Amino acid sequence: MTAHTPTAVLDMGTYGKIRVDNLYEMYVPTDAKDVYLTIYQTKTAQTLGSWVYDAAACLSDFMLTESFRKKFCPEGLHGKSLIELGAGTGIVGLISAYHGCDVIITDLKPLVPLMQFNIDKNLELFKGKAEAKELQWGEDCVQNFAVPDILVLANCVYNENVLEELLQTTLALSTNETLILACYEERTRGIRNLICRWHEMVSPHFQVTVIPNQDLPQEHMQEYVKVVAMKRI
Ligand SMILES: C[S@@+](CC[C@H](N)C(=O)[O-])C[C@H]1O[C@@H](n2cnc3c(N)ncnc32)[C@H](O)[C@@H]1O
Repeated sequence: MTAHTPTAVLDMGTYGKIRVDNLYEMYVPTDAKDVYLTIYQTKTAQTLGSWVYDAAACLSDFMLTESFRKKFCPEGLHGKSLIELGAGTGIVGLISAYHGCDVIITDLKPLVPLMQFNIDKNLELFKGKAEAKELQWGEDCVQNFAVPDILVLANCVYNENVLEELLQTTLALSTNETLILACYEERTRGIRNLICRWHEMVSPHFQVTVIPNQDLPQEHMQEYVKVVAMKRI
């Protein structure tokens, strides 16, 4: 009789239980030959957050460019603290941890097991520390987080009902020293309008700089991708 090994399952609470062998992999090249980060994702969970968006991949690519370093981070990423909001799979944070940032990737509670799985699978490659934590926008739990050097909002603007909470958390986790990086996928007029509204909401607090598309690396670039940097005024 052959021994039966139970298949590992990620319990994503209200989003369902996902068999680990049903996750599919995205390989992200690094600056070392034949070394790749592996991001595990799924479209079978009941959430938009469990797979990698083109804009998030594009933002990660941009953070590794000379243009990013010159304009926004002359000392480089190594040793910087970074918090990613609505991280989903955690791609931006995971790549940043590889490059030496100390990162906390955050999302709603059901996504924590997927973020933790992605940390565990890449842990030995990280030069910085990485943690996965629950953070629901607008809640007081931001008191448990220190203001980071870099705050990432990748594709977090898509639901008008939580824009106010997102702004509240963005304000709570930034000072005028914090570099805020956001990206969006302007695929529909509805989302374009929502992003305009978000930029109106943030404008009393933040200066927004749109990164010209020609400055973004082309690998994950699509015409609907938009990347911005924000600084407290
Ligand atoms: C469109 S997905 C983006 C995922 C990932 N950042 C990416 O770009 O690949 C938006 C993410 O925001 C998270 N989110 C939505 N509302 C939230 C809230 N109120 N508090 C915290 N996270 C939230 C979702 O769970 C989801 O993971």
